Amino acid sequence: MEIPKKIYFKLRPLILPINDILSFIPEKANILDLGCGKGLLLRHLNYFKTYTGVDLNIPIKSDSINVSFVKSDCVKYLDRKLSHFDTFLLIDLLHHIKPSEQFFFVNKLLNVMKKDDILIIKDIHPKNIFTKFWNSFHDLIVSKQIINYFDFYNLEKNLPEKTIILKKHHKRIFLYDHYFLIIKIN
Ligand SMILES: C[S@@+](CC[C@H](N)C(=O)[O-])C[C@H]1O[C@@H](n2cnc3c(N)ncnc32)[C@H](O)[C@@H]1O
Repeated sequence: MEIPKKIYFKLRPLILPINDILSFIPEKANILDLGCGKGLLLRHLNYFKTYTGVDLNIPIKSDSINVSFVKSDCVKYLDRKLSHFDTFLLIDLLHHIKPSEQFFFVNKLLNVMKKDDILIIKDIHPKNIFTKFWNSFHDLIVSKQIINYFDFYNLEKNLPEKTIILKKHHKRIFLYDHYFLIIKIN
């Protein structure tokens, strides 16, 4: 059974560090939010130029000309022209992607990004066995999926030369270990 949108919008901010995410988004950004879910982040955004949310499940419509939602697989979406975006968000998307596709996906995205573009990755990065177990259990119940934790360490070690890491940031809320990696194209 799917969680009703109203309840989801109340509960998810209790475990998601939304203000931290917002603090990394530049003003007047042209945002591509890959794996946007129910569009929670959009509800909290104040100063942006355009917003496009992409997800396999899109229960949202937009009447605004600077906001759009696209039903698509994120990996396939990268084959489109993306040059009008400058801020890319991967918020709790990567652990839903097959391990064999995770690095291909992030590298493909980094390759199409232009100078000064920013990539904000926020994913679950369990620091110990309890939080790891809890997060896996959470997703099994909520998404009915066995998740694949993203190997941040490997990405950080193998980033393309044209990138710089602006910030790494860890925050625990209850039993949720959130890890941020903010990357800029040099
Ligand atoms: C944990 S939710 C995060 C939603 C949103 N980013 C947020 O923070 O509220 C993960 C989302 O990724 C979407 N998703 C998973 N795999 C995907 C894929 N291959 N392409 C597009 N969306 C995907 C799911 O449908 C789900 O809405």
